[in-house]
Amino acid sequence: MLSPGQVQAWHQDGFLVLPGFKPPGELAALASRSRQIVEAFDPGEHAAVFSTVQPQRLADEALLASADQVHCFFEAEAFDEQGVLKRPLALSINKIGHALHDRDPVFDAFSRDARLAEICADIGLADPRLWQSMLIFKQPAIGGEVRWHQDASYLITEPVSVVAFWFALEDATLANGCLWVQPGGQRGVLRERFVRDAPGGRSLRLEKLDATPWPDSSTAVPVEVAAGALVMFHGMLPHYSAPNRSAHSRLAYTLHVTDGVAGYSALNWLQRLPDDPVRGF
Ligand code: FE2
Repeated sequence: MLSPGQVQAWHQDGFLVLPGFKPPGELAALASRSRQIVEAFDPGEHAAVFSTVQPQRLADEALLASADQVHCFFEAEAFDEQGVLKRPLALSINKIGHALHDRDPVFDAFSRDARLAEICADIGLADPRLWQSMLIFKQPAIGGEVRWHQDASYLITEPVSVVAFWFALEDATLANGCLWVQPGGQRGVLRERFVRDAPGGRSLRLEKLDATPWPDSSTAVPVEVAAGALVMFHGMLPHYSAPNRSAHSRLAYTLHVTDGVAGYSALNWLQRLPDDPVRGF
């Protein structure tokens, strides 16, 4: 799938943009299915607010339960002080995760794209495993910031092997909160890790591993892309996205893949049961 030049750029920069990777029909099918999932969601049962800005507020149990399910997470600013939704439900959801690719036929078809398996082979993954999928709404006006982080903090393998596939379902611009990355930053250190207190434990925490500062505007670049683009990036690459203060949503779908030949940590929050194991493409 990838040209030698693209493979070289991947290794140099830690990310790669493939414009027009997905056709409009597939983007529309995923967006439509996402809205159906939200419409069918009962907020009363799952009133946990998702915020990556304040990880201590994560509802650990809701996150753990989503490992093999399809679960909707609210925006941090979705509720007023009385705990009442400030906006319609459809405009209050931050994301859906984390097993869309295994539990929903529309997402399964979108995710298990033979070209992604070829790309994984091109960049050196021997046995790609699809651990995690997220539909990120980035709602107009209240779509939250995703602070600087490295995905390898959340899917720990030895050696590091996680790769993120980020699909723009709508145009991603500076105004609506596109990705920012630090080109070459994948050669830096892992700054933190998000782990269970023990294997099988149900308490989660973010541990600081290294005090290296996050990138700033002197080294980071925005990745503005049109709908249909695939942005793939290395698990060590620092990335961020600003809040969406525009009038337009910024729908994106992400898939996280690790290499099955690398050791998968028992401390990762995301675990699958032996009778329902992680699968490949
Ligand atoms: Fe990320």
